[in-house]
Amino acid sequence: MQTFKAVSELRAQVSVWKREGLTVGLVPTMGNLHAGHLSLVSLAKTKCDRVVVSIFVNPMQFGPNEDYEQYPRTLASDCSQLEAASADGVFLPAVSEMYPHGLNQTVVSVPVSITGMLEGAKRPGHFDGVSTVVCKLFNMVQPDLTVFGQKDFQQLAVIQKMVRDLALPTGIIAAPIARDVDGLALSSRNQYLSASERLIAPKLQATLLDIKVAIQSGNRQFSSLCTVAKNTLLAVGFSQVDYIEVCDADSLLPANKQTDSLVILAVARLGKTRLLDNILL
Ligand code: PAF
Repeated sequence: MQTFKAVSELRAQVSVWKREGLTVGLVPTMGNLHAGHLSLVSLAKTKCDRVVVSIFVNPMQFGPNEDYEQYPRTLASDCSQLEAASADGVFLPAVSEMYPHGLNQTVVSVPVSITGMLEGAKRPGHFDGVSTVVCKLFNMVQPDLTVFGQKDFQQLAVIQKMVRDLALPTGIIAAPIARDVDGLALSSRNQYLSASERLIAPKLQATLLDIKVAIQSGNRQFSSLCTVAKNTLLAVGFSQVDYIEVCDADSLLPANKQTDSLVILAVARLGKTRLLDNILL
């Protein structure tokens, strides 16, 4: 596996691959890799001849009171996992390589019609940071395909819109959520959980599954289903529910009785840890 720190080195290697007629896949990450990330790498490897994984904790997508400084950085273990997963390249830009003229220069801002609700409402500026860095990664790596996990469902929708609106020449592949045996969606932030919080955490998926079962048996009272679910989460020990909503899976607007394709999205906190999850119906 090759390691690239400079955009110029990465571009030189990608042009060699492209001249040889090979396709290039990208898996963007913020590191602290776990089995969920490795499943994205495996999926990319089934679709592309060469796979580059980027590891960059992007300061632009963290709010002032968020966990940018504490975000786990585990480069040595990340690189050995990527070697074992047969990634072809790892791109490790420094902040000065990604943002040589400082943060908040040209910003890619996807409209509020898809960024204004849910995560976007709770984390102002977050999606500008995500879309800007992902657009830069696309320009740096020039991937034929890029793989994103469906756990960050709104992020995926935002990136798909950016790619469509800006005619960016990469295909987007959505990978299913990787879960622990008890159903907890894998996330780098799970390691912030204490032992007792970790026991409660799978109740988030269980509660979303209860909503799914109710909907599938004909209950379309989405708002009351979500209120019951929120109360359940608070009763089992979650400290806060940022949101729990049944939405149109395409527009992410609140679903109504006629909506065909549904997604149940939730963020709930256990102590200081924000857990995201969703279920696509
Ligand atoms: O999902 C993530 O890990 C990040 O938001 C991403 C896509 C790597 C951009 O920094």
